[in-house]
Amino acid sequence: MHVCQTSAGPLSLEIDYADGCWVHTTDGRRYLDFLSGIGVANIGHTHPAVVAAIREQVGKYLHVMVYGEVIQQPQVELAELLSKCLPKPLEVVYFTNSGTEANEGALKTAKKFTGRRRLVAFTGSYHGDSHGSLSVTGRGVYREPFEPLLPEVTFLPFDNVDRLEAIDDNVAAVITEPIQGEGGIRVPSDHFLPALRERCDKTGALLIFDEVQTGFGRTGKLFACERWNVVPDIITLAKALGGGMPLGAFAGRREIMRTLSVDPPLSHVTTFGGHPVSCAAGLASLRVMLDEDLPRKAKERGEQLRAALRHLAGKCAHIRDVRGLGLMIGLELDSPEFTQQFVARALQRGLLLGWTLHSNTLVRITPPLVISKAELETGLNIIEECLKVKT
Ligand SMILES: Cc1ncc(COP(=O)(O)O)c(C=O)c1O
Repeated sequence: MHVCQTSAGPLSLEIDYADGCWVHTTDGRRYLDFLSGIGVANIGHTHPAVVAAIREQVGKYLHVMVYGEVIQQPQVELAELLSKCLPKPLEVVYFTNSGTEANEGALKTAKKFTGRRRLVAFTGSYHGDSHGSLSVTGRGVYREPFEPLLPEVTFLPFDNVDRLEAIDDNVAAVITEPIQGEGGIRVPSDHFLPALRERCDKTGALLIFDEVQTGFGRTGKLFACERWNVVPDIITLAKALGGGMPLGAFAGRREIMRTLSVDPPLSHVTTFGGHPVSCAAGLASLRVMLDEDLPRKAKERGEQLRAALRHLAGKCAHIRDVRGLGLMIGLELDSPEFTQQFVARALQRGLLLGWTLHSNTLVRITPPLVISKAELETGLNIIEECLKVKT
């Protein structure tokens, strides 16, 4: 009873171990994980390649020095591989401990690089819970208890091209998720992100894509922005990046990222960001993603899953919508009560599901990208059973 709780009804499963798509509890039960620890376990839980990399690094050194002062091979190799995978010209990587820190770093970099102060974000967004990231998170109920937050933040409606005119040449950065996760798995229409890029180019505002949740194959591409061929000025990453270890990053072109080391130098430092054990784990994890072509698997399995859920929607009046890309799927149900009961019933039957922060009728379905066809069917059968129950 000494661990601070942040939820009125935590899952309270006592974890024994986790492997692949399964979480095992100390009472001998096992749960099929359709959440991946909220988008973290893209290569499955406790992947042997990641465990081996962690063991090897632990035998060499742990923390040695604060960020950037000494050469740490796991950081160097991960930054190199990431820069090969990221769309050009995003090639210089700053490692952090988490997603919210990656966004803090990106926002600070944009302000310093442009010399401007105003920020633009979108309603329904989620960028993390530290003060800066919260300032650009698009839901008042989470911001208001902590105000005053950053000044000069404007929220625009997501996926509304007409309102992009509000971005002017006082804006340092526009931050958005390519697909809103906590906002309810909202995929924008095809012209939105290209129009946003165009507006930022016109005004000199830096475009930040928060790919903390959409990154690393989740949406059927290694990075979701590839789907629209739109390259941001800064991309932020975390969650699946560390292969289960805490790790975040923001990356941009050399000229932009250089701003943190001049006028004054040490403009943004961290003690533990890019910890060598996390980077070794991240490197092993990224190699698995590439070797096993997990973005393609996510695309295929996602199509199968969405087709099956749409088929179910034809038979179940509770389903209002099935949406998403790859294995980032949202199942919209007809009421908060039914959604809550549905998720609880699924848990009883051994399936881990959840909802999103800004929506209480949207069931989030984000299984590990390594999920097999048989495991997908097991999960689907449980979903079907739980939807059939009359309320
Ligand atoms: C899109 C997005 N950005 C940022 C964050 C914050 O990441 P972290 O919890 O690692 O700080 C999250 C976490 O859910 C997220 O989904």
